Amino acid sequence: MKKVIVAMVMMAMLCTVVFAGGNADTASATAVVGNASKPVVFFNRQPSDPVSGEIDMEVMNWNDKTFYVGFDAAGGGAVQGQLIVDYLASADPQVLDRNGDGVIGYVLCIGDVGHNDSKARTQGIREALGTWNGSTDPGQAVEGSANVGGTEMKVVELDSRAMTGTDGTTWNANAATDAMGGWATRLGDQIDMVISNNDGMAMGCLQASNYPAGVPIFGYDANADAIEAIGQGRLTGTVSQNVDAQATATLQVIRNLLDGLTGTDAVTAGITEPDQYGNKISASMEYIPETKALLAQNTGVNASNWQQYTEGSRDAGIKQSTAESKRVLLTIYNSGDNFLSSSYIPALQYYAPLLNIDLTIVQGDGQNESSCLDRFTNLNSFDAYAINMVRTNSGRDYLDRLQY
Ligand code: BGC
Repeated sequence: MKKVIVAMVMMAMLCTVVFAGGNADTASATAVVGNASKPVVFFNRQPSDPVSGEIDMEVMNWNDKTFYVGFDAAGGGAVQGQLIVDYLASADPQVLDRNGDGVIGYVLCIGDVGHNDSKARTQGIREALGTWNGSTDPGQAVEGSANVGGTEMKVVELDSRAMTGTDGTTWNANAATDAMGGWATRLGDQIDMVISNNDGMAMGCLQASNYPAGVPIFGYDANADAIEAIGQGRLTGTVSQNVDAQATATLQVIRNLLDGLTGTDAVTAGITEPDQYGNKISASMEYIPETKALLAQNTGVNASNWQQYTEGSRDAGIKQSTAESKRVLLTIYNSGDNFLSSSYIPALQYYAPLLNIDLTIVQGDGQNESSCLDRFTNLNSFDAYAINMVRTNSGRDYLDRLQY
């Protein structure tokens, strides 16, 4: 009898285990469907091949709620090139050409050789100055020419560097300070101009104790400290990639998808047309269906218009909405990135409550994808995801996690 009871108890335990296993399977099956069909918006770092820059459409086609929000990278490169060319056209060759050798020498801070924003800026600058040889890599430039105050002058790229920090982070401002120090010592008055693919590195160059005073310097991003530096005459120019439009659009696309909008409505409501709550981004944005990318436009900023870009000018087209509150998990590739920490995150934090989005921001170290992926957890408790990868070809690693 005792044996029978023990056997029955064991059977019952086994059944419980099997049954629990079945339950767990059912639960995870629900999660598979759940997370895999939630909105996923990549932003700032477009899923793409780090070498060729080709957009990763496999990642972009993950589900019908996957989009990229950024800015027109190629157009931005051209705007930056034009800003520099316009400056040269009105410059005095006697002053600009510091050693009077008839050559305008410049140094270039590239940023992240595997990032398509960085590539586009390098190309835009080199094309505008005639130094483009078909490659966006460091050191790849030919002799160019430009109109300097009415005189056609030779232009030479004296040196260019990716600007990777000792810790492996890209777009590194400290690396730019060190490089600038070295350039100023080695190249002296051959340097007539300093060009940087972002403001963080440009401000880093200005930190070099031997920065050649008065040499024009250009950045990109229109970060608050860079705008201030333009006002003070320390920075010559920068480019606004319209961070407010991008940050709002990242959240607005998610809002639209969570509100059940589909097709073009998902990328136009609240963006190019008012949404059901009366919101609409004031700046113009363009949707590129082939790459599922929603892009903000760039504008050049210099001494003539910097006042329009001073801190705190938020988009009045976005007001407090009555939308249902939703939870969004958002990753930032590098907590130390100058543009994201000083411009993008503050904009997100301003607009998220207006759109009733409860935002959880997790930040990585800019070198290891795991620093972000390890924080891309607790996925079932979020309604949507916004992703800024460490490497532009890591999109799949995030999506794989949404399958379980
Ligand atoms: C910005 C850089 C920034 C990078 C981060 C670029 O679009 O211009 O300043 O470091 O994004 O991904």
